[in-house]
Amino acid sequence: MFGEMSMYDFIRGPLVWIAFLVFILGTIYQVVRFYRLSRPKERYQVRVPFGKPPKEPDESPAEPELTWWQCVKLSVVGVNPVMVSVTTVFHLALVLTPLFVLGHNVLLDLAWHASLPSLPEAVADGLTMIVIAGGIFFLLRRIFVDRVRAISTAYDYVVLLIATAPFITGFLAYHHLFDYDTVILLHMLAGEIMLMAVPFTKLVHMPYFFINRFVLVHENTLGTGGSRIWR
Ligand code: HEM
Ligand code: HEM
Repeated sequence: MFGEMSMYDFIRGPLVWIAFLVFILGTIYQVVRFYRLSRPKERYQVRVPFGKPPKEPDESPAEPELTWWQCVKLSVVGVNPVMVSVTTVFHLALVLTPLFVLGHNVLLDLAWHASLPSLPEAVADGLTMIVIAGGIFFLLRRIFVDRVRAISTAYDYVVLLIATAPFITGFLAYHHLFDYDTVILLHMLAGEIMLMAVPFTKLVHMPYFFINRFVLVHENTLGTGGSRIWR
């Protein structure tokens, strides 16, 4: 099947589909795996068959329920406001930019006669630079903050590179820096590697963030409290 196909054709053809399939099926697999490794939180109800329920000997007043925002403040925003700001902007730009980049929507339109709206090119380019700047911030943080360096391995740097490479190469392609054909090939390859890495590296935090903070029951659960615990 690939006999006549060059590396170039493979990367801009079948590998695009393979990458999206691995990304979608792999993410579904990881979410299913979480549900198989967890079970619903039981709500024990102690019923006293006759008479009044026994009085608790020491009835201390119930602790006040924390609001959603108080939880966020206690567990993240109040702890490290700089990190929270950088990571929020980084992630918003990282998720939104590829969806609304003109270059991607032109390709979608050519293939399917359908596409998402596109951002003005200068805005997309600015968001791309924001992602790259965020990547540099995380890199320097890993190198220079002692407690982060202490728990960092090569794996953390590789994942950071996988996440930012599509933006670095997309930026180079858009500005026609270096040889365009080579750069755009590297860009497609970088994007495909990133998509396939999401379910199978720590980038799986994309779905698992929501599971961990909203579904699983523990002391950092947000919102109205989770509904599942580990088996
Ligand atoms: C999977 C196959 C992909 C293909 C075929 C592809 C193709 C392209 C093309 C043709 C451009 C326009 C370059 C130009 O204007 O000359 C572009 C730009 C861009 N791509 Fe991709 N891309 C892919 C994946 C990704 C992924 C996964 C990401 C990010 C997660 C990404 C991020 C970007 C960004 C940020 C730009 C714009 C850079 C700028 O304007 O500064 N791409 N891409
Ligand atoms: C859309 C849902 C996502 C959420 C809610 C999320 C949330 C987080 C959180 C909480 C962290 C921990 C560091 C911090 O406190 O900021 C983090 C780090 C990170 N995320 Fe995400 N993330 C998401 C998607 C993604 C995606 C799709 C990618 C790239 C493909 C990505 C790349 C990264 C990287 C590279 C870091 C670590 C930076 C470092 O310290 O080396 N995230 N994310």
